[in-house]
Parts: sequence; C-alpha cells; structure tokens
Amino acid sequence: MSGAFITLEGIDGSGKTTQAGLLADWLRKEGHSVRLTREPGGTHIGETVRDLLLSPDRNMTPTAELFLYLADRSLHVAEVIRPALEKGQVVVCERHADSTLAYQGHGRGLDCDLLRRLNALATDGISPDLTIVLDIPPDHARLDENSLDRLESEGREFLARVAEGFRKLAREEPERVKLIDGSPDAHIVNAQVTSLVRRLLQT
Ligand code: TMP
Repeated sequence: MSGAFITLEGIDGSGKTTQAGLLADWLRKEGHSVRLTREPGGTHIGETVRDLLLSPDRNMTPTAELFLYLADRSLHVAEVIRPALEKGQVVVCERHADSTLAYQGHGRGLDCDLLRRLNALATDGISPDLTIVLDIPPDHARLDENSLDRLESEGREFLARVAEGFRKLAREEPERVKLIDGSPDAHIVNAQVTSLVRRLLQT
C-alpha cells in the first residue's frame, strides 16, 4: 500500500475538524491526492450509525456503544480507507481506533486489552502511520453548551479521563502518536501539524 494514513484525535471541542480541513488544503497544495474522512461516519451506513451514537435522547450501554463504533470502523476501513490507500492517496481521518481506547477504555472503563483486540478485528490490520492528538484542558473544550451531543453531555470529568487516555497513548507509542498543544490559534496549531506531516511524508 503506497498512500499514507494520518489520524487526528483529541477530546470534543479540541479543534480537530478545523485542523483536518487545513491539513487537507495544505496537502492538496503540496500536490497530494487527499481523502478527508471521519469516524463515526465516512460511509453511508456509518453516517446513520453516527446519528444513533450521538443523538442525545438515546439509551445506550457502554458495550452497545462500543460495538456501534466498531461496526462503523469496519465498514469505513473496507469501503473508504483501504481503497484510498491502495490508490496512493493520503487519508486524513478525524478519529479512529485511538478514540475507542480513550473514550470506551479510559472514559467508560472498558478493558483496554480487549479493546485493542476488537480494534484489530475492525481495522483488518490497517493502522495509522501518524496520529496527531490535539491536547487541550477539558475546561477549554470549544463546545456549544446549548446543543451538546450524547457524548459531549457526559461532562468535564469524563472528558478529563479521555484526555488523560490520549496522553497515555502518546507515551506508549511516541513514534506514531504525537501530542501537540491544541489551545493556540488555529494557524499556529496548523503549523505544528504540517511540520509533523511533512516529516512523515519525507521518510
Ligand atoms: P465528533 O466527530 O464530533 O468528534 O463526535 C464523535 C464522538 O464520538 C466524540 O464524542 C467521540 C466519540 N467516539 C467514541 O466515543 N469512540 C470512538 O471510537 C469514536 C470514533 C468516537
């Protein structure tokens, strides 16, 4: 497979969507063919699963939530990520398997070893070449308090556990998972993101 797989991670309101868009623009200007996508979502069924997962009025157990994220991921890898990589595209994906470890593992308290095995099943052996975590204090999360989705409504303590989960992932896999400060202005964060991606694509 000749493309590159880059994921952007971080707690809700950390600026991932802005940074994913800026990164895709920059990559296109550099001459790359880019596939910008996201989880949950990114496929037809995935967007329906996303609605089920994020709708604030749904009852959900942590296990049901987990399987929906995994089902979404399996389809997303098969329909979008693998074909794009096989075509040599650079895939920029908002959230992927690390979100399951941070949210369902550190946030909900499910067993991380089990989650890794389930992620391996869902991703069918594909894993990011580079993962950039936008690290912000949960109090700085840029959330619209009037329209919180189901996960965003979990509150700041939940987000703090998730943020710590992402930091732990960066410590465990420093070559792949890079933690950067997501608090400054978008263009400053973007400069750090592009510098990491430039380094990846040059190797
Ligand atoms: P977002 O696309 O606005 O970030 O919303 C997706 C939400 O889903 C966010 O709260 C994080 C959560 N999530 C998980 O809990 N586990 C996962 O595996 C993924 C991909 C997302």
